[in-house]
Amino acid sequence: MTPINKVIINKQTDINPIWIMRQAGRYLPEFREIRKKNPNFIQLCLNSELSSEITLQPLKRFELDAAIIFSDILMLPYGLNQKVEFKKNFGPLLGDLNLSEMSKLDEVDFLEKIHPVYKAINLVRSNNLTKNKSTIGFVGAPWTLLVYMVNQQSPKNKLKNNFFKDDFLINRTLIILEKFLKLHIKNQIENGAEIIQIFDSWAGLLNEKDLPNYVYIPTLNLVEYVKSLNTPVICFPRGIKNYKNYCEVVKPDAVCIDYEVDPLQILKEIKIPVQGGMDPKILLTDKENLKKEAKRYLNIFKDHPYIFNLGHGVLPETDPDMMDYLVKIVKDY
Ligand code: CP3
Repeated sequence: MTPINKVIINKQTDINPIWIMRQAGRYLPEFREIRKKNPNFIQLCLNSELSSEITLQPLKRFELDAAIIFSDILMLPYGLNQKVEFKKNFGPLLGDLNLSEMSKLDEVDFLEKIHPVYKAINLVRSNNLTKNKSTIGFVGAPWTLLVYMVNQQSPKNKLKNNFFKDDFLINRTLIILEKFLKLHIKNQIENGAEIIQIFDSWAGLLNEKDLPNYVYIPTLNLVEYVKSLNTPVICFPRGIKNYKNYCEVVKPDAVCIDYEVDPLQILKEIKIPVQGGMDPKILLTDKENLKKEAKRYLNIFKDHPYIFNLGHGVLPETDPDMMDYLVKIVKDY
């Protein structure tokens, strides 16, 4: 069994596996080198050879316990024929959401469009560098994808006032998302993904009263589906505040926490394995501070099944040496 599965499935507390969200990405010069020659981010994700190579880049440098496939949660709306672009210094920009066209979309057409992602997973899983490590597949949660698809760009910490005005559009889109997310998850698992992480980056935008409809129920449906495929599922409801309620309703196999929540409170309230938490900005400070903060999380969760990770993705301005140091601190703990 891989170290991460020993924590998630066996609830082992005597090991501290580590992987980092966005571990393959812009803080690595070898990634920037490839990115420079591939200005179209979606096309890069659809290039199985390059995306598998990028996925493996951090594993060549650091003693990480997982490979997370180099792709994006927005490959899903792309597969549903919504236009998706990544603009420099702006982020994602999506085209109009065409519900009638999307309702007619066939599963085969969706798979035809994004199958290189599955081929990349296959290449990563069969590479020697992932031996005794977990290959992690992922999806965006229905709510977070809905936010991007309706808003057509990052909501920048706030939903538009009229976000919910078209009830029919919102509810139909959620139904379509559930169907295609299941298909996407199934194909990732069939091609070698051994764990699925569900990213709900915008869970924190909702009021408590809207959480059941848009976060809890749609995510629970996916979590049950992943479990039915005998695959562990980690949920990351960023900014949710009440992680206890979330875990009680959604029941993931492990929960990834953001950096705004108090890890001591999590330890007190959450019984399932925990992942993550440390603020990515700590990696921009100095080694002494990094060691102190990393040890704070390791100490708090020393008798709890815990996977080391950050409380959000690693920042592009991070020095790879600091990442190296972090991995060593966790391994030597
Ligand atoms: O973790 C990994 O190393 C795997 C790859 C991965 C990417 N995106 C690659 C990427 C994963 C797991 C994601 C998830 C993702 N994508 C999320 C959920 C996690 C989170 O950050 O909240 C979200 C919200 C997205 C959507 C997205 N993709 C945004 C908002 C942006 C632009 C802003 C940014 O952070 O760059 C992206 C682009 C993106 N996805 C890049 C990478 C490496 C940068 C592309 C580039 O310009 O080189």
